[in-house]
Amino acid sequence: MLELSSRYFARGREFLGCEYPFLCGAMTWVSDPQLVAAVCNAGGFASLAGGNTPPGILADQIRKTRELTRKPFAVNLVTLSPAYPEQLAMLRQEPVPYVIFAGAIPRGKDIELIKGTGAKVMCFASAHALAMRTIKSGADALILEGTEAGGHIGPVSLTVLLQQVLFDVTEVPVFVAGGIGCGRFCAHLFLMGATGVQLGTRFAVSKESCAHPDFKRAYIRASDRDAVATPQFDIRIPVVPVRALHNKGTEEFGKLQMDLIARLERGEITRMEAQYQVEHFWMGALRRAVVEGDVERGSMMAGQSVGLVKRIESVADIIADLVQSTEAELQRVREKIL
Ligand SMILES: Cc1cc2nc3c(=O)[nH]c(=O)nc-3n(C[C@H](O)[C@H](O)[C@H](O)COP(=O)(O)O)c2cc1C
Repeated sequence: MLELSSRYFARGREFLGCEYPFLCGAMTWVSDPQLVAAVCNAGGFASLAGGNTPPGILADQIRKTRELTRKPFAVNLVTLSPAYPEQLAMLRQEPVPYVIFAGAIPRGKDIELIKGTGAKVMCFASAHALAMRTIKSGADALILEGTEAGGHIGPVSLTVLLQQVLFDVTEVPVFVAGGIGCGRFCAHLFLMGATGVQLGTRFAVSKESCAHPDFKRAYIRASDRDAVATPQFDIRIPVVPVRALHNKGTEEFGKLQMDLIARLERGEITRMEAQYQVEHFWMGALRRAVVEGDVERGSMMAGQSVGLVKRIESVADIIADLVQSTEAELQRVREKIL
């Protein structure tokens, strides 16, 4: 019996139209129709990853997901992706009930366009100022993501974001993400005011995840401190930070940057040429990791929560564990404070 947790789940349940407000965050190459449908059918909520998927293929994935589940799900769009404008246009023909914007803050007119299709709009926010601007732009909900998360990250820890944003924002529901692995902690996030909780890494290792077995094995072996943010060595050559497992690729990327800085100092290359090489280094690397299982040179995107992931579980077991541990912790807290 979910005596206490159902009270805390109510707002997320109503907003997302699912039983339990635990979200499987979109993960490019990982969040396919099978994973999304499995999470939604288990009572959670999930999104298809738009990534740089051609709009026709993304439309097929939407239709496939609808065949696998009758529950609502989202499409995640990365505003900085080359395919983004066409994906946005496609969603007018193939509307979905929820669209989650990631990358830069979407333009107000993009939010309007999506709302015009009948969808609710959720936006990632990785800093206080971004959260405030996002609410002003018309987002229906925020996903507050700390720097502990896997994939592209902002600079601020979830601990600080909770105090800056979660404690203050009442206008829209706030979902939280980044470094979260267990239900016991989720209970405290709900007590702090979270409408729901999003996890990525734990679901990437689920039975239903299409990720290569070597990718999953590397996650299970890894500890929290193996999930590092890509370093930037020189302000003249900016690097978009991504949290991923440290591997040969990370080391080679470091060496590339040192080499480019030296060549820049000697006047052998321009800043633009250096920037181009940095931006192209990881091209296709997430696919290599997830699909081909290249754990050495692929981009092994993972949150610090990887240290909490000990085994491959089914999506239904993950959701059931999150729900039950949330309830147990709420009961424990009640006994403690009464
Ligand atoms: C392999 C991987 C790929 C990801 N790809 C995306 C993406 O395409 N779009 C997005 O908004 N977030 C992406 N994320 C972030 C997740 O949606 C989620 O917010 C994050 O993983 C939460 O932190 P956690 O990994 O510590 O649970 C990705 C994360 C991982 C681990």
